[in-house]
Amino acid sequence: MSGAGADQTRGRGDDRVFRVVVLASGNGSNLQAIIDQLHGKPASVAEAEGPVIEVVLVVSDQPGARALDRAKKAGIPTAVCPRALGADRKEQEKAVLEAVSGASPDLVVLAGYMLIVPPEFVRSFPLKVINLHPALLPAFPGTTSIEDALEHGVKVTGVTVHFVDEGLDTGPIISQRAVPVEEGDTADELAERIHAVEHELLPATIRLLALGGAKPPLSGTRVVQVD
Ligand code: GRF
Repeated sequence: MSGAGADQTRGRGDDRVFRVVVLASGNGSNLQAIIDQLHGKPASVAEAEGPVIEVVLVVSDQPGARALDRAKKAGIPTAVCPRALGADRKEQEKAVLEAVSGASPDLVVLAGYMLIVPPEFVRSFPLKVINLHPALLPAFPGTTSIEDALEHGVKVTGVTVHFVDEGLDTGPIISQRAVPVEEGDTADELAERIHAVEHELLPATIRLLALGGAKPPLSGTRVVQVD
């Protein structure tokens, strides 16, 4: 079984399929890790059970994003909603919401998506939007986490996957993995080791969610219960 639509008997509303939409702005190496490790495969590899994970759509705000080429090569539908400023930004956000809603996702993955998703988007998919962040949140939120970690001289940084809420990198944390900072590391060297960890942690976390292994935080708490 490989590729979207490999089995035409599965589809929307079929609980044997876990429908994933990925939003990406750039290189898409994490999208590639999802495609290689998860796309068209059962969530539980060892026992070949659980739903089959399908990446049903890749959305980008950048028409030239390499992520789009990676999706097309894997036969995955794509949508481009070019980033816009001012009043047009609302239109762009609406277009993204429509595209993603139209794909009926079980999970929306922000994998290097460089725009902040608006509150309406988060509310449309409660506890179904996750983000990958290259630091151990709540340390170093924002877009310069790797440089910030080096500047602060931390000895350990890492990778976080978290549910997206209406703040910036503030949502409940699902999974984290540490990455040691080596003496003399450049930002590129540290980024390379962080990316290698991302390529394991993100697919593993998606698999966990597909198998129902992460319980949303109880009301009034932020702690995700992970099996
Ligand atoms: C990753 O480092 C991710 O943590 C950050 O953006 C980067 C995306 O990389 N949010 P890629 O496009 O998946 O290669």
